[in-house]
This record gives sequence, structure tokens and C-alpha cells, in this order.
Amino acid sequence: MKFKKKSAYNIAIMGATGAVGVEMRQILEERKFPIADITFLASERSAGKKIKFKGKSYTVKVLNDQSFEGVDIVLASAGGALSKKFAPAVKKAGAVMIDNTSAFRMDPKVPLVIPEINPEAIREHNGIIANPNCSTIVALVALNPLHKVAKLKRFNVATYQAASGAGAQAMEELRVQAGEILEGKQPTKKIFKHQIAFNVFSHNSSVGEDGYNEEETKMIKETHKILGKTGIKIQVTCVRVPVFRAHSEAIYAKFDKSITPDQARRILAKAPGVKVVDNRSGNYFPMPVDSAHKDDILVGRIRQDLFSKKTLGLFVSGDQIRKGAALNAVQIAEKLIGARR
Ligand code: A2P
Repeated sequence: MKFKKKSAYNIAIMGATGAVGVEMRQILEERKFPIADITFLASERSAGKKIKFKGKSYTVKVLNDQSFEGVDIVLASAGGALSKKFAPAVKKAGAVMIDNTSAFRMDPKVPLVIPEINPEAIREHNGIIANPNCSTIVALVALNPLHKVAKLKRFNVATYQAASGAGAQAMEELRVQAGEILEGKQPTKKIFKHQIAFNVFSHNSSVGEDGYNEEETKMIKETHKILGKTGIKIQVTCVRVPVFRAHSEAIYAKFDKSITPDQARRILAKAPGVKVVDNRSGNYFPMPVDSAHKDDILVGRIRQDLFSKKTLGLFVSGDQIRKGAALNAVQIAEKLIGARR
């Protein structure tokens, strides 16, 4: 669908008070997105709250069917149910929704986009463009540059996912629990079923009949949608760790031809959105404390399988709230308006 170009756009952020919504606002400001007007939408709990944007004060409004009149682009991050509920109102207003939830990701009519990988898919939008799952983005930004040189046949991945993926309240739960435990108190559990501070547990999404949880299934299906009909075999284990906002992943990737760590490092050093952090002598590799608040996905521990020259081990880390969600969505918006190549 054609998108009408303007010199500045009316933007609405749905879920403006959440972890991703707050970051979207900061990224729009940082990257000087051409904005005529901006609307901050949230629930009744936040109605009337003041938000500062580009030196001006805005009042948070309650999300409703009339919220989108005159809006060009809606950046949605208030949960899948609300994206589904309000998609017709967004469409009726003639706006394009860039949706951070999983509501439309696997809809064949909705492009699922990582701008470094498949920006051309944006043109196929019918009023909705989906942002992939954060773990999928972190893995694919690192794997795709290698896949372009030696076809990816399979990858196995274990994730180390931050609390931020479950929202601002989950990050707060980690902070509160850490304090409680250090004071010898029982940790208060509200968002996660299991203790998040000083613990590691299998991802909090529901487990399907095949034994894979929803997060793992998303990574598999979304990878196939983004990379096209490649038949890549994928095995995923998704795990929550007591980290505030950056996801890390241990990846074992098998290609159709031999690829050395030096080659991989050279390819990744030139890849957009990637920073190689692979200092063997200094034992310095990607860490969430380094990737948090950064745009790039850090990639390191690049090594060849000792038993297969076609297989590499990697360790990656990327800010879940930025590249895993808000930044990717703003980059999609930039491509949509033709602001950045
Ligand atoms: P609110 O702060 O008013 O609850 P997170 O993913 O960090 O938990 O953020 C979720 C975002 O979605 C918040 O901005 C939250 O607003 C918003 N939200 C949640 N429920 C609703 C709702 N029923 N209507 C509008 N916004 C909602």
C-alpha cells in the first residue's frame, strides 16, 4: 500500500507509559524523526500524566477508538489484545500501525520486518507492519550477514532473556525482589510465577503439546517468515535470567559451507546493526551490561565447531527494549517515510 509522504508526521504511541513506549519516545527524539504532532496513549491509570517531548509537555490520553483521527503512524506496544482491538480504528483513520506485539506477526498479509534484513517487505503493508519478537531480532541481526555468504542450514539457540521482555513492571519486580532477598525477606511475586532475582527459569510463556514454549515457537516461525523459504532447521531453548533489559543468546549455527572465525568476524564487522566484541586474550565478550542502552547487537565468542568446519558458535547480546522492540519499530517508520536508506 502506498504511504503518503509529508514533511512531518502525526505520530501516536499506544502504550506510551510502558517500557517500550518510553523508549520509542526517546528514540524518535534522538533520531530527529520528522514529527508534526505526537499523542501519548495509555490506560486510565496513566490518564493526565505529563510527558516531556522535545522540550514540550504532553498529557497522556486514554486509548479509545477516536485516538487515531489525523494520525499518520501508530507505534503500538500495549499488548496483543489491544493491537487487535484497535487495528480497525487505526485503519479507519488511514494510519499505518507498526505493531510491537505478536498479534499480527504470522498474518500472511502483514509484513514482519527487520530493516537490516528485509526492508523491501514494508512496501507490501496493508496498514499494519509487524515488529518481530525481540529474541528473533537479536539472533537474526547477527546471523543474516553470515547467511548471505554461506547459507544457514540449521541453528540451535539458547536465550538468556532479560526481565524487560515482560514489561516495566517485570523490571521493577526484579529490582524489588533483589532488595527483599538481600534483606533476608521472601521475594514478592506478581508478574513472574517464579522468583526472577538470583534465579534462572524456563521462559514464562505457555508450553505447547510439542514441549516448546510460545517464545521458542515464535522464534522458529518468525525466522522462517523473515528469511523466506529457506527450510532452516531451528532448535530453541528460551530462558529468563535476572538481567534488567538486554537479551543474550548462545547460538550454534550450521552453514552449507565452511566459514572460519576470521571470515565471520570480517563479515560481521561490516554488517549494519552489529558490533563485534570478541577479545579472546582479554576474555571480553558480549555482555548485557555493555549492550544495554545501545543500538548495536554485540557478537562474539566466534569459534568453529571442533568437529565441523561448517559450524560456528557465537554469543550475542542486544538491548531488548531498543533493537529488540522500540528501535526496530522506529527504523521501520523511517523506512516507511523514506527517511533513511
Ligand atoms: P498504563 O501505564 O496506563 O498501564 P509494559 O509492556 O511495560 O507493561 O507497558 C504496557 C503499556 O500498555 C503501558 O503503557 C500501559 O499503560 C499500556 N496499557 C496496558 N493496558 C492498557 C489498556 N487497557 N488501555 C490502554 N493502554 C494500556
